[in-house]
Amino acid sequence: MDSYEITANAKLNLFLRVRGKLSNGYHSLYSVMQEIELADTLTVNICPERGNVFDIKCIGRNDIDPEKNLCRKARDRFFSSLRKKAAADPSIPDAKLWKKGSFPNIEIVLTKVIPSESGMGGGSSDAAATLMVLQEHFGNPFSDDELNQLAVNVGADVPFFLYGGTCLCERVGEDITSLSSLAGIPLIIVKPPKGVSTPECFHAIDSEPLPEFDEERYSAFISGLNDASKDPLARFLEGADLLTNDLEIPSIEKVPEIRNARELLLGSGAEFSRMTGSGSAVFAMYKDEKTRDAAYDQIRNDPELSGCEVFVSKTV
Ligand code: C5P
Repeated sequence: MDSYEITANAKLNLFLRVRGKLSNGYHSLYSVMQEIELADTLTVNICPERGNVFDIKCIGRNDIDPEKNLCRKARDRFFSSLRKKAAADPSIPDAKLWKKGSFPNIEIVLTKVIPSESGMGGGSSDAAATLMVLQEHFGNPFSDDELNQLAVNVGADVPFFLYGGTCLCERVGEDITSLSSLAGIPLIIVKPPKGVSTPECFHAIDSEPLPEFDEERYSAFISGLNDASKDPLARFLEGADLLTNDLEIPSIEKVPEIRNARELLLGSGAEFSRMTGSGSAVFAMYKDEKTRDAAYDQIRNDPELSGCEVFVSKTV
């Protein structure tokens, strides 16, 4: 049996603009996604037996139905694509077995730290980690573009995790441009007890006209963000009024604690605070660890945040 240990980091959407609705029902997005230190861990065992068995054990947070776990979807998509590839190209290793649909048994032990329905991409990151392990184990059968396509079919946020770091993510989430690193920014993240369902949130924005999107200003901002000679936080904050999240209003309607958390974080010495993705987690950026740690001491027992989880982290 071959065993792989892998960490699956969370992400934040540092800002998120919705540019329109695509014919497939998804929305075309424009967002800078940032990998952060907070992470799940996976042990992936690839067994010698080819019994098509998939087994996942979740520890830490037991709130994921194994049937709906995105690691399962990643494994299913990976093997079914490999089967199709083997049918088209009999020269790939083990093509005969893949063609027959004879897949090795996979066992995953997933230690969950990243809360679900938070907008931090935990399930997507776990799925990307599964895809990367399978891609490596089976000798890189897919090109980067093929793996990217496979990833977006598992979930809109999955392609980002194949890259990590700091990326501009466009369209559904598959059009990715790596940017200069914004690593090292100290963070506090507040996750209200109630989560937000992503499809419901996107559905809610369909009934309102989309806010304006000034393409030229965003392009100029992204060029500046790529200037690694400047301090990461300073170059990010230059975006000023561009750094909004179009999903914040519908999510606040469902979970009003999002607004309270933002206000509290901004009042604790943060340089910037936003909801990530469709929520319900809210992050805040601090100029240094000392200010962040003082803010953490100040807010963690605040009755306004009762029932919320509060995480200390940083961009990576
Ligand atoms: O792809 P994923 O399952 O993560 O997306 C969850 C839901 O979020 C989709 O079913 C869709 O309703 C919505 N979504 C969207 N446009 C995106 C990403 C997600 O409409 N770019």
